[in-house]
Amino acid sequence: MMSTKTVYRVAVIGGDGIGPEVLREGQKALAAVAQKDGRFSFEFTEFPWGCEYYLKTGKMMPEDGIETLSHFDAIYLGAVGYPGVPDHISLRDLLLRIRHDFDQYVNLRPVKLLKGAPCPLVGITEKDIDMVFIRENSEGEYAGSGAWLYPGTPRETVIQNGVFSRFGTERIMRYAYELAKKEHRSLTSISKGNALNYSMVFWDQIFAELGKEYPEVETHSYLVDAASMFMVKDPKRYQVVVCSNLFGDILTDLGAAISGGMGLAAGANLNPERTYPSMFEPIHGSAPDIAGTGKANPLASIWSASQMLDFFGHPEWGRRLLAIIEAMLVEKTILTPDMGGTATTSEVGDEVVKRIEEA
Ligand code: NAD
Ligand code: IPM
Ligand code: MN
Repeated sequence: MMSTKTVYRVAVIGGDGIGPEVLREGQKALAAVAQKDGRFSFEFTEFPWGCEYYLKTGKMMPEDGIETLSHFDAIYLGAVGYPGVPDHISLRDLLLRIRHDFDQYVNLRPVKLLKGAPCPLVGITEKDIDMVFIRENSEGEYAGSGAWLYPGTPRETVIQNGVFSRFGTERIMRYAYELAKKEHRSLTSISKGNALNYSMVFWDQIFAELGKEYPEVETHSYLVDAASMFMVKDPKRYQVVVCSNLFGDILTDLGAAISGGMGLAAGANLNPERTYPSMFEPIHGSAPDIAGTGKANPLASIWSASQMLDFFGHPEWGRRLLAIIEAMLVEKTILTPDMGGTATTSEVGDEVVKRIEEA
């Protein structure tokens, strides 16, 4: 009988700064996994979109960029943004555009302290930090709704709206409740209902309404200011966390800081219905301060490759990649400077590949 191999078609957008440097290592890891597994392969197609492309063409991606990407099984993205192009143009016209147009409304970001990863908190071990953030990724404070009135006059006024639809709020909370239920974990909602008297009161109301459908899920609700304090003082109280776009953005960088740093934090932008491709990326930016020096840590992008493997239905490989990252953190022989090592980006990637081949 002829066996047919599944081919995963992945659009690769390295982007700017360290984006292409770390993504290269993630691609190496994915290719090695496919080679070792034998049942599937990856077909990578690279798109040179980003700030350099913008400086040449006046656009972050071609007119038909979204249409082009729509034919892929997934998108693997490095980082976007570089001095010389205003961030609100580069990010909105590429990264945020993809998240929005492909309705990637779930931004799933693990905040998990692996063994051996540096943690700045005193007395905290890997047992205490194991949460997953479900960040609303399609509306909220980042909906791009607002106005700039009377520019350049003494009456200059800007309005930035937070957009919270019932549809958008219910679907992100339902995703979080379902995950908590499946994994028998508690669910914490992050809010600010005491000051944001429309958006966050609505948020709290829907969280409570949906909770009635999930009596088996233990719930908590914290105000975002106290929530950030508890992430530092008592992180073990968090398991599954659901929050709005802005709060999730800020709290997941805090999450990165307590679980090994930006070089280790990964995120998946999911369209759970699979109507459109989902996108996998490290959560860090283009790090212009270290771009081109070989110091960028590729483990965050390799962790996001592990999320891609989970998404494609290969959780055993997802787990194995994480175990390799963890073993390297424990051994501390081949790590980049942010993890206290002296290895280069590609040396770390080569080591991951070697361990996949030996797996
Ligand atoms: P950043 O995440 O790029 O860098 C913050 C700090 O973390 C820097 O000191 C950097 O050297 C370090 N760092 C980040 N990733 C690292 C890695 N893999 N290995 C080692 N050190 C790492 O944040 P920033 O400086 O605020 O932003 C730089 C640019 O990136 C801006 O244009 C910003 O808008 C953009 N940005 C893009 C994304 C994205 O594409 N997803 C995310 C955040 C920021
Ligand atoms: C992230 C980034 C983006 C976000 C920016 C670059 C628009 O900070 O993925 O966390 O806020 O979503
Ligand atoms: Mn961010």
